[in-house]
Amino acid sequence: MPNAKTVKDYIRTIVDFPHEGIMFRDVTTLFADPRGLRLAVDQLLHPYAGMEIDKVAGLEARGFILGGAVAHQLGKGFVPIRKKGKLPGKVISEEYQLEYGEAIVEIHDDAIAPGEKILLVDDLLATGGTAEAGIRLIERLGGEIIGCAFVIDLPELGGRKRLEALGMDVHALCD
Ligand code: PRP
Ligand code: ADE
Repeated sequence: MPNAKTVKDYIRTIVDFPHEGIMFRDVTTLFADPRGLRLAVDQLLHPYAGMEIDKVAGLEARGFILGGAVAHQLGKGFVPIRKKGKLPGKVISEEYQLEYGEAIVEIHDDAIAPGEKILLVDDLLATGGTAEAGIRLIERLGGEIIGCAFVIDLPELGGRKRLEALGMDVHALCD
């Protein structure tokens, strides 16, 4: 189809959010469009067709929206990796640095069984600090990460190289 919109076409940039100097890549416009959301979910899953996946893990907050949709499409369960203090059960934690600040993420300690194959999903890869913390949590529970899938990669921030150095398969829909 000529001139069909790509995933990138649905994403807008908000300048100076949440701090001056940050070009915030806003995926709410992608999620709000039925064709955009479907395109993103289909493309996130494309490299993993035919592969065994037991669960999808998503990073707070936009990884919940995408990860939930991806898990539903696969017919698998979804595991949330949340900011500190939000999960009600027994958790394990990892601290990490952000492009703008630092934080702690947590996962329920019974959310993943040893040997389960996990697809990790988030909207955006910047420094890779958030994803690396998620990877550490999943691996501490014995999960095997089969891929890390993002809508956006900001290559100048080095996240892809950082995750690939950990042996991760990184898939992103646009730069
Ligand atoms: C954003 C984004 C990723 C993370 C990427 O989330 O959704 O999770 O930053 O940055 P990194 O690769 O440098 O770690 P944010 O921390 O803004 O949290 P939110 O989704 O809860 O707003
Ligand atoms: N998380 C870290 N950097 C970001 C950016 N530039 N846009 C959206 N989310 C982000």
